[in-house]
Amino acid sequence: MSEKIGILTGGGDCPGLNAVIRAVAKAATYKDWDTYGFLGGFEGLLSPVNCRKLEYRDLDGLLLRGGTILGTSNRGRFAAKTGHGQIRRVPDEILLEAKHNFEQLGLIALICLGGDGSLTIAQQLYETGVPVIGVPKTIDNDISATMMTFGFESAVACAVDALDRLHTTAESHRRVIVLEVMGRYAGWIAATAGIAGGADVILIPEIPFNYDSIVSKIQERELRGKTFTLVVAAEGAREYGSDFITSGRTGGDREARLGGIGAIVASEIEKRTGKETRVCVLGHLQRGGGPTAADRQLCTRYGIKAVQLVAERKFGTMVSWCPPDMTDVPISEAIGKLRTVQPECELVQAARALGISFGDEIAAGLDRYNDTAVVSSTAG
Ligand code: F6P
Repeated sequence: MSEKIGILTGGGDCPGLNAVIRAVAKAATYKDWDTYGFLGGFEGLLSPVNCRKLEYRDLDGLLLRGGTILGTSNRGRFAAKTGHGQIRRVPDEILLEAKHNFEQLGLIALICLGGDGSLTIAQQLYETGVPVIGVPKTIDNDISATMMTFGFESAVACAVDALDRLHTTAESHRRVIVLEVMGRYAGWIAATAGIAGGADVILIPEIPFNYDSIVSKIQERELRGKTFTLVVAAEGAREYGSDFITSGRTGGDREARLGGIGAIVASEIEKRTGKETRVCVLGHLQRGGGPTAADRQLCTRYGIKAVQLVAERKFGTMVSWCPPDMTDVPISEAIGKLRTVQPECELVQAARALGISFGDEIAAGLDRYNDTAVVSSTAG
């Protein structure tokens, strides 16, 4: 019998959302099911309901197209996080209205593509009685219970391309260049791109840094005849004992917006070393554009698995890549605890073996990884 399924994209966009939508709708078509896309994220579930049937021809070109054809939002009535990642319960009347509207449409499942915040909303909808399946999306790669989120690999590719370009200009001008990348409270983009892009210093939220260590690395390079240095700073990186740096308006129903650490680090390096130093903030270039080949195949497999889970009526689960298997976990196990870079993990050790500094080598007297921070705003 022909069934109808719904799909929506929540939170910040990232490369690969359309590739997942395509895979879901294609796999559904071959089951003789129809797919309905909710527009504007979870808001599309509210009255007036904003959804439309995805026709087969709507899928043309989606594998490589950036953004999301369904639109998305990370604020408004469904905002699941505020401040420094504090969970906010969506009001019951909103959840019940969404459930009511969903039921009126006669759909058998709602596939939600999202990061930690959107999956938290998906779980709240599931607990309200909506048959939900989650797909882990975020360039930050910080979702527990899966090896990799889609969008991450594409963001890393963008950061590596930036580093390749910064490398030649830094070398030509004998400068220090600091590249600030996204990632929120996880250093996956910075650490992975830093290694792949030949950075000399990598600053991540999980390892608070001190300037003496960074300066020492730059001086060591000079002694070895290297007159330029590349620093990658995650937006959530912070000096030991200091707060996270935020930019823009924070507070209200919004999650704190991180950013600005790159400029601070660049200015401090220039002051301490006398070397000309520049900063480059990569920003939303990391989120724009289409997915890499690796992301395309991950998105496609995630989408197909999501449809399989619907067929099995395995609701309240999230697709999870657990190489070599594509599997599933309860959404409740994937949310609320971010997957971050462990300071002693192999990735960090490999970087250190190459001489890459994490800005913490000179740390006498500091309890290196046990420093807690609070958010403060630096820019209006
Ligand atoms: O979670 C993805 C992400 O790009 C983070 O890396 C970044 O901190 C944040 O979203 C930026 O969000 P916005 O686009 O709302 O400023």
